[in-house]
Amino acid sequence: MSDSGVLPLLGQVSAAVAEAINRTRPEMAGVDPVVRRSTHADFQSNAALALAKRLNMSSRVLGAELIEALDSDADRLLESVELAGPGFLNITVPDHSVWQQVSARLADDRLGVPASEDGRRTVIDYSAPNIAKEMHVGHLRTTIIGDSLARVLGFLGADVTRQNHLGDWGTQFGMLIQYIDEHPDARWRHDDLTVDTSAVSALDTLYKAARAAFDADAEFADRSRTRVVALQSGDPATLARWSEIVTESEKAFGEIYNRLGVLLTSDDYVGESFYNPMLADTIKELVDKGIAVDSDGALVIFSEEVTGPDDKPVPLMVRKRDGGYGYDTTDLATIRYRITSLDADRLLYVTDSRQALHFRLIFEAARRAGWLTDAIDAEHIAYGTVLGPDGRPFKTRAGGTVRLMDLLNDAVSTARAIVAEKNPDLPPADLDKIAEQSGIGAVKYADLSTSRVKDYTFDLDRMVAFNGNTGVYLQYAHARIKSILRKAGGHTTIVDANIPLEPAERALAMELDDYATTVAEVGATLEPHRLCGYLYDLARDFTSFYDNCPVLAADEPIRGNRLALCQLTARTLEHGLSLLGIAAPERM
Ligand code: ARG
Repeated sequence: MSDSGVLPLLGQVSAAVAEAINRTRPEMAGVDPVVRRSTHADFQSNAALALAKRLNMSSRVLGAELIEALDSDADRLLESVELAGPGFLNITVPDHSVWQQVSARLADDRLGVPASEDGRRTVIDYSAPNIAKEMHVGHLRTTIIGDSLARVLGFLGADVTRQNHLGDWGTQFGMLIQYIDEHPDARWRHDDLTVDTSAVSALDTLYKAARAAFDADAEFADRSRTRVVALQSGDPATLARWSEIVTESEKAFGEIYNRLGVLLTSDDYVGESFYNPMLADTIKELVDKGIAVDSDGALVIFSEEVTGPDDKPVPLMVRKRDGGYGYDTTDLATIRYRITSLDADRLLYVTDSRQALHFRLIFEAARRAGWLTDAIDAEHIAYGTVLGPDGRPFKTRAGGTVRLMDLLNDAVSTARAIVAEKNPDLPPADLDKIAEQSGIGAVKYADLSTSRVKDYTFDLDRMVAFNGNTGVYLQYAHARIKSILRKAGGHTTIVDANIPLEPAERALAMELDDYATTVAEVGATLEPHRLCGYLYDLARDFTSFYDNCPVLAADEPIRGNRLALCQLTARTLEHGLSLLGIAAPERM
């Protein structure tokens, strides 16, 4: 089937009500027919209430008019329309329409989801750890949320460019390089290390030692400062060492990305240093346009929108008094590059909410410079903090930052125990694989299923539970359906649209019909938790369907129709999980 998708029943009903409004009240053509799923019927429209006020008439009278128009037209789409309360329209669709949706989605490898983003050039900035520093729990959310958005928008047909804005430049590297050169025996290269230490972890330790030496030894501090100058002026030996540090760190990040199953590859590594050659031009343009101005020897951009606690405009630092460039300068060059060279229509920056002001100022400056126009959408995708059991930012028992690798190892071993208990006969190799998929999936799901801007508590036992709104519950629901399908043997997916629907079948089919709407909503709001909520509802609708409607024991053609529901549910769960970056094992 094509990119235009399968129009959900909700959309079909909305179109019918809109058409009825056009015919009875042409002056109101084009208004929202306000159709929603309903517990009183399949759908309810509140159009009569909304319109009656504007037409200054009784909403019941208008409701009756609309019903008449719908009745005369309703070819085969609407089974019945009833007037309720002050003028609600309770709408039921016929069983065969519901079955037809099931079979149309089953026949489509996109499950009926249209490619609505239509090639929109979308740049997603996410993960962005810092070179020579270990990835910690603080990088978890940007990596997971950014990756899910890249998957959803890519599936919706956006032309997605992933950008991993690594922190690979700055004066701290002078100190680290000097220290490494003075300690040639230090082991920090990937190939010199044992499997359980990574290059960044070794570099992180060296960095701390360098910092201590810098503070304790004035001569080392001087040599470090000279090294910073050498690095910035492109001294070949210093640059070679720097680039080795970058490469070793990137290898270690790559291991975490592999483990997490995110899409980021080395092609997406575009660190801060990439923009060094563009800084001068960017600054010149900002000065020429009168946007960047001198302030006590520094070059700054004063905001025209945001003032600080002192009522003075908040500045963005373009060039420090000592001539140095920092985070702000790089982000100015970055947004300019993404718009003018990458041709972005949409720019997303996934970082924690504490960077909200930074991005607001960058966007404002880019608008004033004329780079960011109304045709381009720039958004800071902010998220809250991961909290520990004490309700404070998550730390190790000793109060240190939690290494991402340790956290993932813990999650996988907790998941292993839970899976082994539920399924004691699993062969060890299968158990390893499933523990990995469910442990990693649990961490990702817990992160994605809470609304982005909220903080959440990292609670492994709850995350890997088989019950409740967890990744493991969804993976298990999927695996259970797969087992039903295996037992059914080879079955065809011909749906007989003449079979009457049981209520639990209807509820499940209606939920399945919402998939495209949900995915589009995630693309529009950039809130993956909506997809999580949908999949959870779907899994629960499946459970009550399965409790009420025997599948394997039913006679044909009912059995075939129910198997079709099983198959579409399994595919929808698997697909939805894949958009979250979570595996859907066949067995658990
Ligand atoms: N490396 C930064 C950090 O660890 C995040 C970079 C986000 N992206 C950007 N374009 N500023 O906080």
